[in-house]
Amino acid sequence: MSTREIKPNIYSVGALDAERRLFDELIPLPDGTSYNSYIIKGSDKVALLDTVDPPKAEVLLANLKELGLKKIDYIVAHHAEQDHSGTIPKVLEKYPEAKVVTNARCKEMLKDLLLIPDDKFIVVADREKISLGDKTLEFILTPWVHWPETMVTYLKEDKILFSCDFFGSHLASSDLFVADEAKVYDSAKRYYAEIMMPFRSMIKKHLEIVDKLVIDVIATSHGPIYDKPSFIIDAYRDWITDEVKNEVVIPYVSMHGSTQAMVDYFIDALEKKGITVKPFNLTKTDLGELAMALVDAATIVIGSPTVLVGAHPAAVNVAFLANALRPKAKFLSIIGSYGWGGKMVDQLKGLIPVLKVELLDPVVIKGFPKEEDLRKLDGLAEAIAQKHREDILVRKG
Ligand code: FEO
Repeated sequence: MSTREIKPNIYSVGALDAERRLFDELIPLPDGTSYNSYIIKGSDKVALLDTVDPPKAEVLLANLKELGLKKIDYIVAHHAEQDHSGTIPKVLEKYPEAKVVTNARCKEMLKDLLLIPDDKFIVVADREKISLGDKTLEFILTPWVHWPETMVTYLKEDKILFSCDFFGSHLASSDLFVADEAKVYDSAKRYYAEIMMPFRSMIKKHLEIVDKLVIDVIATSHGPIYDKPSFIIDAYRDWITDEVKNEVVIPYVSMHGSTQAMVDYFIDALEKKGITVKPFNLTKTDLGELAMALVDAATIVIGSPTVLVGAHPAAVNVAFLANALRPKAKFLSIIGSYGWGGKMVDQLKGLIPVLKVELLDPVVIKGFPKEEDLRKLDGLAEAIAQKHREDILVRKG
């Protein structure tokens, strides 16, 4: 990706990573990603906002060269994670007069992670400004989107919010600005689900700050830039609300077909009650798709067989993951089958201490589901439908 002008004297200089398929060795990237980095040329000073993941360092350095910059005065580090900070040392080698501008917490993390010397930093506080001459950078601390040191920069003269990971999307697109809204919406929702959802309450506070700024453009550190900021701000407002949708997410795994038969029956039973059901076979599913479904659903039902007296490891993994992602679901249950007993339910319940859910009576049966077992699943479906009706009535009342 070569340099592109966003507004006069403001350039995108980052890199696409279309081939990357995994982030943090954990998060699937079906559409690759980008590491967005920006140059702001003021009448007196030049600032580089964030860098790129180290394997793409040469792209950034070539872009800086293409702009013919004689010097860079400031390298603003919004976030210490290496996909944005990792090339700071190389930029400092090429532009040794540059200072790294960041907050106190991020400075310590950058010293730890990248071994940047202490005297290379300028530390800024919340709402502190640095003038580039005819352009002013205002730094706003936004902790926990998604690390404790994260911050954003507001460029008042051009009404641009440089938001780093906040509002981002893992999407390697050659579009500088959002062109395919449906595609970007999905990618941004997936990004929110995987990375931002655990910090929903913090994001609510940050959105209040964003609401007070006059913004023409949101320039994130991943994915296309938003030239209609309300598109992504409204989406975030919907995702972070406490309201849940009339949906049940069923992450499940089955070894010999008994749990599968229960899940198949249960999906029908829920759908007959007008509930949207999103099943995910854990041996096949993309965990990002599952995380996206967890953004809105009122209820989670984990399906698992019993393995060596406990839950299947895939179900253990999904319970651990749900606990970490902290979705706003209000109800949870467990269904599954066993051969000779076990502690599957107690084990899964113990893995979700953070979730603020009401546990609805699990349905765990012996062997393949029989008529009385199907009636129990009917009962669970009715209990869920009743809870959803009550929840919707309470919200609308
Ligand atoms: Fe894109 Fe948290 O790094």
